[in-house]
Amino acid sequence: MAETTPHVLIFPFPIQGHINSMLKLAEVLCISGISVTFVNTQRNHSRHLTFTDVQSRFGGFPRFCFEAIPDGLSDQPHSSGFSSFPDFLGLLDRVEKFMKPGFRELLTSNHRFRSDARGPVSCIIADGILGFAIDVAHELGIPSISFRTISACGALCYLCLPKLINNGEIPFKDEDMDRLIKNVPGMENFLRCRDLPSFCRAKDANDPNLNFVITETSYSTRATAHILNTFEEIEAPIISRLRSSYWPNLYTVGPLNALLSTLRRSSSTNSSSSSSVSVSSNASLYEEDRSCMTWLDKQPEKSVVYVSFGSLAMVSREQWLELWYGLVNSSYRFLWVRRPDSLTDKDNEKSQMSAELIEATKERGYMVEWAPQEEVLNHPAVGAFLTHSGWNSTLESMVAGVPMICWPHSAEQPVNSRYVSEVWKTGMDMKDNCNRSTVEKFVRDMMDGDKRQELMKSTTKVSQMAQQSSSISCNGSSYRNYEALLDFIRKSC
Ligand code: UDX
Repeated sequence: MAETTPHVLIFPFPIQGHINSMLKLAEVLCISGISVTFVNTQRNHSRHLTFTDVQSRFGGFPRFCFEAIPDGLSDQPHSSGFSSFPDFLGLLDRVEKFMKPGFRELLTSNHRFRSDARGPVSCIIADGILGFAIDVAHELGIPSISFRTISACGALCYLCLPKLINNGEIPFKDEDMDRLIKNVPGMENFLRCRDLPSFCRAKDANDPNLNFVITETSYSTRATAHILNTFEEIEAPIISRLRSSYWPNLYTVGPLNALLSTLRRSSSTNSSSSSSVSVSSNASLYEEDRSCMTWLDKQPEKSVVYVSFGSLAMVSREQWLELWYGLVNSSYRFLWVRRPDSLTDKDNEKSQMSAELIEATKERGYMVEWAPQEEVLNHPAVGAFLTHSGWNSTLESMVAGVPMICWPHSAEQPVNSRYVSEVWKTGMDMKDNCNRSTVEKFVRDMMDGDKRQELMKSTTKVSQMAQQSSSISCNGSSYRNYEALLDFIRKSC
């Protein structure tokens, strides 16, 4: 009897950071011969096709397909549809209201899938913040895997939130920001109140955003298995804690960009199939401005600070200017991604800019609205990354061996930046402090001198570990975990 090919349905929360990592997993599974349906929202679906080469990237996989469902955001003015949404919970409510029926409808009309060669969906990999997807999977008797797009250290902090509330560690007062947190196991010596996920800064334990995170995190424990985009070599103690206390079937398969490169290489050696197409790894919802690559080509090696705050972070005009002055005053070159939807206030920037600032920027700066980030980080001219510590950006920087200056913005980013500076030692943490003199000092320290030498040693080591974890010949941990995940998926069909 012919063996059935599993059919995995992947369902990300419809924002760039989540789509990027889940689409990489989709490609990895396709290379391994699994049938994949990737659920986009209608809005993102058309943006993908406009701005990216997903067609050519997935064109060689006849068992891959996109499905699009409504997300109720088509009337939002900005490109991502999210930064314009003032309140996170309102956004989530709206997304769930529109997406849940569309998702259920897609699965209950599974006969559509039956009639194509790929057969019905045998396993759902849903974003960990889409708890309703796990409900629908349960309802329909389909095994579900929850994919959290965050770090293991961030995930553990989320899981410990009820304990932190019960023990009176949160909420905390502003003057307690530097107090050490005692109830996140393994982090007692370095995690301060200011390093906790941003939701913990709520003044009230009943804060709706805080409660949403707690509920959604506890929900995810109901999935049959879990995936994290991280690797044992940097987060082993936390990963084993997560396995023993919360998620027994946890597969850590990251960094997914490294695993994807490994599998692309291996499939191009083993066959002449078009799955080996060499394309940029991200599927941007924004239009990439590739002129920055030409600009980088003209800069000396390791001379440029790349500045980017992901797809969601918004800053005030004042913070913007402080950052700008800090960069210019450091005298180093910089490439800065300034998304058009990233300012919280709209007053006139020009009135606050000196001629000197503008001149200096023309001389040694370059600005784009969206960059091909992974390519930028791997360009020889890039010497450091000033980042908001989003988990994808952190991993991409680690793989490329670029040290980071962290200015965390929200969610679990403050935990990531603490790990970068205190545990992995691959960067420095500006945490809560972005005035021009701090930026200038951090950039100078990062780009030159003893501090840089020290950081480069550990950054290079972490980069090697990241590559090894996904290597087939080294039998790396993420590669082995990926094989175990494949087994799990095959057994579930
Ligand atoms: C958020 C959270 O920050 C992150 O921690 C969580 O796990 C996922 O959602 P975001 O804030 O957008 O995502 O940051 P990040 O995780 O770093 O993802 C941004 C992605 O956009 C990265 O893959 C990055 O390569 C890409 N990007 C960013 C570009 O391709 N071009 C750019 O100009 C900027």
